[in-house]
Amino acid sequence: MEIRRVGVVGCGLMGSGIAQVSAQSGIPTVVLEASPALLEAGLSRMRKFLDGGVAKGKVTPADRDATIGRITGATDAAAVRDCDLVIEAVTENLSVKRDVFALVQAHLKPEGILASNTSSLSITEMAAATARPARFLGLHFFNPVPLMKLVEVVRTVQTEPDVEEAGVAFVQKLGKTPIRTSDRTGFIVNRLLVPYILDAIRAFEEGVGSVRDIDQGMTLGCGYPMGPLTLNDLVGLDTTLSIAEIMFDEFKEKRFAPPALMKRMVTAGFLGRKSGRGFYDYSVEPPRPNDFLAGRPAATRPGGGER
Ligand code: CAA
Repeated sequence: MEIRRVGVVGCGLMGSGIAQVSAQSGIPTVVLEASPALLEAGLSRMRKFLDGGVAKGKVTPADRDATIGRITGATDAAAVRDCDLVIEAVTENLSVKRDVFALVQAHLKPEGILASNTSSLSITEMAAATARPARFLGLHFFNPVPLMKLVEVVRTVQTEPDVEEAGVAFVQKLGKTPIRTSDRTGFIVNRLLVPYILDAIRAFEEGVGSVRDIDQGMTLGCGYPMGPLTLNDLVGLDTTLSIAEIMFDEFKEKRFAPPALMKRMVTAGFLGRKSGRGFYDYSVEPPRPNDFLAGRPAATRPGGGER
């Protein structure tokens, strides 16, 4: 089954990126949001990214305009009725996602495929709550979606082979590389990435190194594009915390247990880039390690020992 028309539900950071790359690959794409204000915020994020691409010489003005022309914004779920594939990219909450799928499947044509961009929730549980579990799969994109080349294609025990193949072909059409995985919490990438990030936080908590030195250890020592603490700020500490909690719940292994420092930072609102502060402070350019962690005497810091 060829994917000729795509719906994306949720136009936040991930949803807007997915809609953008879908439209950029030539596919008419419908974006569904809960309100006109949220829709406009998502559309303007796409426009800003495309304008940035034009400024960098990566996108031609004609491609930018054609991409925008292929995107239709909607707040009524009936807009997805003719889509071949609808990808959900709303908040990481199983009951919210189930509500989204109930709404979408009521309008979507019977052969239409449903997909979730979840990074940690069970695809099988979402699929089971729909009337078409055989036409359901995971398509897990990476942040920032327009720049990251990978998509995990997640099959459940019920996913029909032609649905998995349609997912793989769709990812290839986006110019990205698909990797196939089964529905185990964290799939391939987060199973490896999340313990690595959590270990970096634990190393910091134990005084092994400063924020900057831990990051430089991995960028300069191993050639990673970002250090683990910078990456955690990009992903969002609340997102990593939620993924870690779900993975710990599934595997009951210490390596997935969220460090106390990360929990406290999330409670304090230090969520990373999106809140302006996480392990780094983004109110200055270049960002510097958060004073909360680096500048105050240890005795006044929560937990005492961090630096
Ligand atoms: N339009 C088109 N191209 C653009 C662009 C735009 N608006 N902005 C940047 N680019 C291009 C640049 O021109 C550049 O291209 P070349 O490589 O051809 O020169 C490339 O994108 C990289 O851009 P920058 O030079 O501006 O930035 P960078 O080199 O610092 O790279 C990055 C940025 C790609 C984000 C890189 O730092 C990186 O790969 N970081 C790691 C990100 C990562 O690991 N993400 C996964 C997070 S985990 C996740 O998402 C899953 C989960 O479930 C939690």
